[in-house]
This record gives sequence, C-alpha cells and structure tokens, in this order.
Amino acid sequence: MSTPNNKAAWLIKAGSPLQVDDALLPTAGPGELVVKNAAIAINPLDCHMQVSGVFVQQWPAIFGCDIAGEVHEVGKDVERFKIGNRVIGHAINLTSGRPQDGAYALYTVIPASKAAILPDEISFTNGVVVPFALEAAVCALSLKEPGFAMPGVSTPALGLPYPSLQEVPSSEKTLVIYGGSSSVGSMTTQLAAAAGIHVIAIAGEHNFELSKRCGAAEVFDRNDTSLADKVIDALRKNGGEFVGIFDAIGTPETYAHDITILDQLGGGYLASVHPPPPPIDLPPNVNAGMIFAVNDVATPVWEEYVTPALHSGKLQCLPAPLVVGKGLEHIQSALEKCKTGVSATKLVVEL
Ligand SMILES: NC(=O)c1ccc[n+]([C@@H]2O[C@H](COP(=O)([O-])OP(=O)(O)OC[C@H]3O[C@@H](n4cnc5c(N)ncnc54)[C@H](OP(=O)(O)O)[C@@H]3O)[C@@H](O)[C@H]2O)c1
Repeated sequence: MSTPNNKAAWLIKAGSPLQVDDALLPTAGPGELVVKNAAIAINPLDCHMQVSGVFVQQWPAIFGCDIAGEVHEVGKDVERFKIGNRVIGHAINLTSGRPQDGAYALYTVIPASKAAILPDEISFTNGVVVPFALEAAVCALSLKEPGFAMPGVSTPALGLPYPSLQEVPSSEKTLVIYGGSSSVGSMTTQLAAAAGIHVIAIAGEHNFELSKRCGAAEVFDRNDTSLADKVIDALRKNGGEFVGIFDAIGTPETYAHDITILDQLGGGYLASVHPPPPPIDLPPNVNAGMIFAVNDVATPVWEEYVTPALHSGKLQCLPAPLVVGKGLEHIQSALEKCKTGVSATKLVVEL
C-alpha cells in the first residue's frame, strides 16, 4: 500500500494567514493514535494562537485542538482502539508544541487517553464539537488539587464528581455557569447535570432552550439589568450548598456580576476560563482560579463515559456545528469568522 500524503494548514509566523502545504505523515508513539481527520473544529484559542503566536513552541506550527476521523495507526500499549475505528479526540499541540499534535492537518497524532469511539449514528461533523470543550469542562468541575494554569495563576479545584451514565439523585450542590450557551459553558452544564449538580446558567435569552437542553435547571438572561439580583434570589430559594461560579466567559463585565453574587452568598469558588480578578478585588472566602484544559483528570471521562453517553444521548454534541467549508484551505476563513464571535454554535471545517 502506498504511503498517504499528509497536508496541513501551517502557521509560518504570528499574524500571517495559514498556508496549506505538505506535512510529514506522523507515526504513533506508545499510547498514541494517528487519526485521519474527517472534521476539525475551531476554538477561540486558535484565533489567539494565529494572531499573536501565543503558546506556539515550534515554528512553523500546526495547531488546533478538536478532531474527528478514523484511526489510521495505533501505537504500542493502546488497547481501546484499532485501525479504522471512528473516533473523536483532543489534539494537544498546545502543551506538546509538536506540529504532528495539531488538528489542522489531514493526519494528527492524539493521546489515546484523550480519544473515544464515536458511535456510528453520530456524524464526524457533529462529534467534533465535543473534545476540547469536554476536557475544559472536566478541568472546571472535577480537579481535586489545584495546580498552575500559568505563572502566578492557580487552577481551580472544585472536586465535583465525574458525570455518571446512571440517573444520579440531586447532590444538593448548586453551581452557577456563566456563559451557558458557549461551547465550554454548555458542555460544563451537561457534565455537571450528569453528576447531579443543580446548574443555574446565564446565557442570551435566545439560547435559554439550548442551556436547558444541556441540563440547566434555571437560566437567566445575560442582558437583564437585575441579573445578579435574580441569580442571588434563585440561589437563596434553591437552598442546598452553593459551590460557586464557573465563568466560561471571563470578562470584566462577567467578573463584576460574579463578585456581586459571591459577596452576597458568602463566598465560594470562582473558576474561570481566563485569569480571575486579583484577590484584592474579590470578596472574602472566594477561591479563584483559571482552568487549563489539558489535564489527565479527564482520562476516566474519555475512557468510560464519552462513548456510552454519546450512544445513549446523555452526552449531546452541542452547541451544534456550523460547517464553514470542506478542505484545509477553509480553516483560515473559519478563524476569521470565529474572531467576529459566534452564538451557540461551533465552527467546523470538514476534510
Ligand atoms: N483556560 C482554558 O483552558 C480554556 C479552554 C477553552 C476555552 N477557553 C476560553 O473560554 C472562552 C469561551 O470559549 P468557547 O469556545 O466556549 O466560546 P464560544 O462558544 O465561542 O462563545 C460564544 C458564546 O459566548 C456567549 N457569551 C459571550 N459573552 C457573554 C456574556 N457576557 N454572558 C454570557 N454569555 C456570553 C455567547 O452567548 P449568547 O449568544 O447566548 O449571548 C455565545 O454563545 C474563550 O475566551 C476561550 O478562549 C479557555
């Protein structure tokens, strides 16, 4: 059999458009898979990487986090997969820096511990919305010990249970998820609800239905002028244990509301997707941190939860994909579209 050609959308230097060109066909090391990609998804992180070169460790670079496709090669010590399996997976160029670990290519290397079989009834285009958001959600919810997201910024350690395939009784714990219609916020809503956590979400009014579909018990309008008061009322009425807030947006506007809510509720966790406000700006008893969405805490979820939960419908491929085009040359326009912002959708390029 002849060796397939690999191609990638390369970033040659920060701020330049991606260039589609040949790439070496990667091989699978121990514990790794090579996947022939059928779809990749775009994340806001990718836009930052392209514009500023932040996190790029090796030039020219191939980056991107989300892939769906067929297993092309299986590395030593991998037992859960075989060649030809349909999979989704989280590509980790972000931490490894290796070009072969970037999603924006025809073939990508991923750790087998960050992959799951995609049930036949789910298309690659739908499945590819899951991986990076899933890992971010597990990092937000289930880390038990704080680590470091970046120098001087610790990761939050809410220590909440993993999602369960069974119906779990409500744990009496309540978590506010700010940005319930975003990719990370909606996935965190799904996993928290599947762990028995009572979720109060904040989203645009037009996306209440999506947030409820993900399992939010109540949703409040991000544009409501009394937003913080309404969330505080809902938390008080609900009783139980207020865990804190996962802020999946992390802007000065959302932090101002977080601070009001945490102040009135007597403190709690503030887990964010960006560096949280400095301690001096936070009320007492607030434990603040920033997630870093590459962590082995997600391994049990990848290995035991994702495939059966996708199959049963407990884990849904939300927010729904919006296909920007077919072919690596469409990744650049997908990045441009991502920079202008999306509402309750994940941009996808089919290959
Ligand atoms: N630290 C990490 O490891 C990590 C990992 C993943 C992502 N991130 C960061 O997390 C952020 C979210 O990423 P994503 O992929 O989830 O984003 P996304 O899906 O592209 O976010 C779009 C959504 O954000 C919502 N939104 C925007 N401003 C809002 C506000 N003030 N209140 C409530 N919702 C608001 C919009 O909601 P409506 O349309 O409903 O109004 C929209 O649906 C990005 O900044 C990304 O860089 C960090």
